[in-house]
Amino acid sequence: MQVYTTIAEVRQVQQAHRGTLGFVPTMGFLHEGHLTLVRAAKSENERVAVSIFVNPTQFGPQEDFARYPRALERDLNLLRESGVDWVFAPSVEHMYPDGFQTYVTVERISEGLEGARRPGHFRGVATVVAKLFNIVQPDRAYFGQKDAQQVAVIRRMVHDLALPLMVIAVPTVREPDGLAMSSRNTYLSPEQRAAAPVLYRALSAARARYEGGERSPEKLREAMRTVLTTEPLAVVDYVSAADNESLVELDAPSTRPILLSMAVFVGKTRLIDNLVLGQG
Ligand code: PAF
Repeated sequence: MQVYTTIAEVRQVQQAHRGTLGFVPTMGFLHEGHLTLVRAAKSENERVAVSIFVNPTQFGPQEDFARYPRALERDLNLLRESGVDWVFAPSVEHMYPDGFQTYVTVERISEGLEGARRPGHFRGVATVVAKLFNIVQPDRAYFGQKDAQQVAVIRRMVHDLALPLMVIAVPTVREPDGLAMSSRNTYLSPEQRAAAPVLYRALSAARARYEGGERSPEKLREAMRTVLTTEPLAVVDYVSAADNESLVELDAPSTRPILLSMAVFVGKTRLIDNLVLGQG
């Protein structure tokens, strides 16, 4: 497995290569969720590339960029064992050299949910992902459904800018107790870790209500809030029942797929999770 740190090296390997390339962009500190993306990429492409880059432009000034967990050697070993062909792990200075001033803004779909609470977050995500796509030139790119709005923003960007690749969303990988895998789970103390599965319990309660025939979006949100309030360590940032395509919050029953999503603080750690109802 080759590890490249410069754009020039990646361009060189890409020019020499024929056949399909699957790409998994990551911020490192890899877990089973990332390895599931790698396996999906391997099953559908001749070669697989992964990027590891903690992207400063998607973190707000009060967010955890400096303390975001990093473990490059461990990540590289995991990727080597997973049969990845090459890794792109650039420095911040290489991706954002002096004078950098070009950003990608995906408008409406970035504005609600996470975008409303994390101003500038999706501008940072869209910018770095567009730049990575330009450098890596993949045929298919793989993202976790856990970041549902991120997937929607990237799909929109790829469509609107006619980028020549497919975006593939892979189902969320969960711990046995339902907690969605995330690099940020590492911030949780044992007590907070024990509290964290309440997010999935809340989503599951709303799904059970939906499967029982409930169609009022407010009742679905209420079902999530009711479960979340049973956990004293959980502080709700938002719960949402939105149209799964536009991500606009629903105020009336809908026959279209619904994205249930939430952000909840457990201690200082902000956890997100989601489920889609009425799909397929
Ligand atoms: O989901 C992530 O890890 C990041 O947002 C991504 C897509 C790698 C962009 O920095």
